[in-house]
Amino acid sequence: MLRSLYTKFFVIILAVTMFACGAEDDYPGLEYAPNMYHSVPYEPLTQITNEEEGKWLSNRGDDLGEYYNSNPNNPHNMNMRLPAENTVRRTKGGFLPYRVHKDSLDFAARYVTNPMDSTEALLDDGEELYITFCAACHGENGDGQGLVGQRIKGVPSYKVGRVSEVSEGHIFHVITHGKGRMGAHGSQISQEDRWKIVEYVQLLQKQN
Ligand code: HEC
Repeated sequence: MLRSLYTKFFVIILAVTMFACGAEDDYPGLEYAPNMYHSVPYEPLTQITNEEEGKWLSNRGDDLGEYYNSNPNNPHNMNMRLPAENTVRRTKGGFLPYRVHKDSLDFAARYVTNPMDSTEALLDDGEELYITFCAACHGENGDGQGLVGQRIKGVPSYKVGRVSEVSEGHIFHVITHGKGRMGAHGSQISQEDRWKIVEYVQLLQKQN
């Protein structure tokens, strides 16, 4: 008698457990320790404006649902405010976007200047980036004789002729937008890193 009671009890517990775990469509199933899933701080990407949501399991103390996550102090209860009008996003290094048009190489050569100071550490970074992105064509020492450079014609050496004298703005612009048969690297290398490469290329220009 007792034994079959145990069995029944066990089966019921098992059924409840299994049933409770079932998640389907929009229903996530029962949650153990819901505070672990529903953040107390404002969540910009999972904002829930319905004050009743999850009320049945709420222990928040402010009479709102457990899942409610919305900032009443912002317009439209937004958790994350929109940036002020005409805001321009800066890049990670704090730069404004580089807006000089591809065709304005002469302008860039004359007026675009390096915003960063030159330091040993920057040059080390520049060398590493140069090896990664440029050396295959331009060669490790900038003579245009990288493994790929030997095969495609017209990769210039940085050390002779006009290219040995191009300005920092010129180099930056060429990295960003490409030139002739050289592809653009602006989308792959951040502005900060491009300037580091420029500094290293300037070093190569001077080395013979
Ligand atoms: C796929 C090969 C290739 C890669 C990679 C490459 N370049 Fe070039 N680069 C060229 C070629 C080809 C030219 C000549 C372009 C032309 O004038 O037709 C050139 C030209 C240049 C010039 C001279 C521009 C001028 O005014 O004539 C500079 C400076 C330069 N590259 C810098 C770089 C830097 C820095 C990198 C790395 C971020 C790089 N290049 C990556 C092939 C490459």
